Amino acid sequence: DNPALIDTFGRVATDLRVSLTDKCNLRCTYCMPAEGLEWMPGEQVLSDDELIRLMTIAVRDLGITDIRLTGGEPLLRPRLEELVARIAALRPRPRLSMTTNGIGFAKRAKAFAEAGLDRINVSLDSIDPETFEHITRRDRLRHVLDALAAAREAGLDPVKINAVLLRGVNEHEAPSLLRFALEHGYHLRFIEQMPLDAQHGWDRRQMITADEILELLGTEFTLTPSPAERGGAPAERWLVDGGPHEVGVIPSVSRPFCAACERTRLTADGAIRSCLFSTDETDLRLLLRGGASDEDIANTWRATMWGKLAGHEINEAGFAQPIRPMSAIGG
Ligand code: GTP
Ligand code: 5AD
Ligand code: SF4
Repeated sequence: DNPALIDTFGRVATDLRVSLTDKCNLRCTYCMPAEGLEWMPGEQVLSDDELIRLMTIAVRDLGITDIRLTGGEPLLRPRLEELVARIAALRPRPRLSMTTNGIGFAKRAKAFAEAGLDRINVSLDSIDPETFEHITRRDRLRHVLDALAAAREAGLDPVKINAVLLRGVNEHEAPSLLRFALEHGYHLRFIEQMPLDAQHGWDRRQMITADEILELLGTEFTLTPSPAERGGAPAERWLVDGGPHEVGVIPSVSRPFCAACERTRLTADGAIRSCLFSTDETDLRLLLRGGASDEDIANTWRATMWGKLAGHEINEAGFAQPIRPMSAIGG
């Protein structure tokens, strides 16, 4: 039997994204409503032991080489440093990264680096305090800036920034975000907004497209395609003013990269998703808690990935948004 998580299109998933909680301490307007969401019941959220068992199977039996911790906001998970250390102790050791809003990270950065976290991606849509608060509905810009600095100080490398541009809100900040990133040595990627918000407010006409992002940046910088291999990465990379610095654009909607996808996902309540946009998922929690063997779990995981669709259908008529919002799937 084949060890890999392969699908009918020949893609092999080597990258596992694990959502640790659906909760968040920000309220980004493009993600969730001001009042928050109805969070998952605590007893449904996988324990650290359950997560470690699944990750053990993933790296030992299923060919996973990279694990990314996401949320909601992964830092809200109690004693996350301990979990990171346990993941770093798995063999073969996976590369280990986290996607976070950075709140509260600054004072924990060193502990995370020591526990074995290799790198982080921090969400930052604005470096203007008022615009930041307008988007996230919280006055926390300082915390995020401190997180970035502390991450670099702790030796996490690279330190990436993810920025979503919203029409009429922060689109004018594209060049200043890039200047900020260049000054501090952070890798900046701009993300096209996707239809994954809890309020179902996404509107294609409001989306700032990858081409528009390049145009906005083009007013102050000269961008040329990076010669670096893209592989399964979502970001198109561009050299800034001839290099060596780069900027990324993640064109999920206008230039989908599903054909090169290397991802499998685990939600905080133990569901396997073959795609960010899957409309169905496979519950591993019941198996885990029902005494299934490692082999049963591995086979169920393989079967789920075998059924992975060719790609998302955002650009097709009749596209239906997944039932879970991004905060409950994992970014
Ligand atoms: P790197 O390994 O650092 O390149 O991470 P990443 O870009 O894969 O991860 P990150 O969590 O920082 O995600 C950044 C953005 O990429 C997300 O906000 C999404 O817009 C997009 N993204 C992540 N995963 C997927 C996916 O499976 N499909 C699509 N279409 N977009 C994704
Ligand atoms: N479309 C694109 N990106 C999104 N993010 C959250 N919701 C969306 C969306 N609907 C971003 C966050 C974070 C990353 C994990 O995903 O800003 O940077
Ligand atoms: Fe929280 Fe991320 Fe959603 Fe913002 S986008 S509310 S940081 S989960």
